[in-house]
Amino acid sequence: MYKIVTADRFLWEGINLEGKIILEGGTSWGNTTRLIAKKVSENNWNTELISVDIDDSHFNEIEKDIQPVFKKLNLRRGDLSDLYFIPSNSIDVVICNYTLSSVEQFPLRVMKTLKEFYRVLKTEGQLLVTEEMPIWSVDSKDYTYWSKRLRIIKSISILKAMATFNEIHPSDLEEGLNIIGFKNIHWREFNEKINAEMAVKFLDKKKQNLIKGSNDLENENLTRGFVDLTEKLVKKFEETKEFLAPAYILKANK
Ligand SMILES: C[S@@+](CC[C@H](N)C(=O)[O-])C[C@H]1O[C@@H](n2cnc3c(N)ncnc32)[C@H](O)[C@@H]1O
Repeated sequence: MYKIVTADRFLWEGINLEGKIILEGGTSWGNTTRLIAKKVSENNWNTELISVDIDDSHFNEIEKDIQPVFKKLNLRRGDLSDLYFIPSNSIDVVICNYTLSSVEQFPLRVMKTLKEFYRVLKTEGQLLVTEEMPIWSVDSKDYTYWSKRLRIIKSISILKAMATFNEIHPSDLEEGLNIIGFKNIHWREFNEKINAEMAVKFLDKKKQNLIKGSNDLENENLTRGFVDLTEKLVKKFEETKEFLAPAYILKANK
């Protein structure tokens, strides 16, 4: 979906996946999955990958592209907060990019997920997380496109009583990881580049959510106002190629 250029150097610094078993949380359209495959292929590593998502709609195309790179590849439909199909102390590295805010659509599910990551990791095993910063924690003037898009998407979800992403501040995530028992927790903020064309598609999907179905608030002006906001922002996005989003990478060990 979004073409995201992660802070590659910090994420991969000191990481060697030779002979390792990796768990990826949140396969989605396979952005990070393909990034892992590229690293494994470039380094000729002998690596096993289990990638888990609650939605398996992209599994076939991803599997076709990257299967030969891995010693073993398992794309598995499942809930990250209940990894009953993965034995305890069996995983060397957990990589979870842009997924915890999606898991936290249902409050506290992230704590269950982090507990599962801790359980499946081997002692000293590594957790790598990339996430967007919460909108309240940055100056929206520095990120106008990102901030407007996020506010419109979240507001439409709330109007339609749908679950919405909850970005987690790195210091809160650090505290949660501490409670569970993770150590060597450190994080770094950076600016992520997001492809504007894909952001338009996502906004358009949200606009359709708004228009379709009943308007149980029974206020046509509200709906029209949001449609207008969305369409104006889409026009702006069409004038740009990519935009900046505030993000962070967090690393920790079991
Ligand atoms: C933004 S996408 C992930 C992006 C991807 N990791 C990347 O790097 O581009 C978030 C994904 O989390 C998945 N997800 C949300 N809650 C989940 C849960 N409880 N268990 C497993 N997957 C979940 C969604 O289905 C979605 O595919």
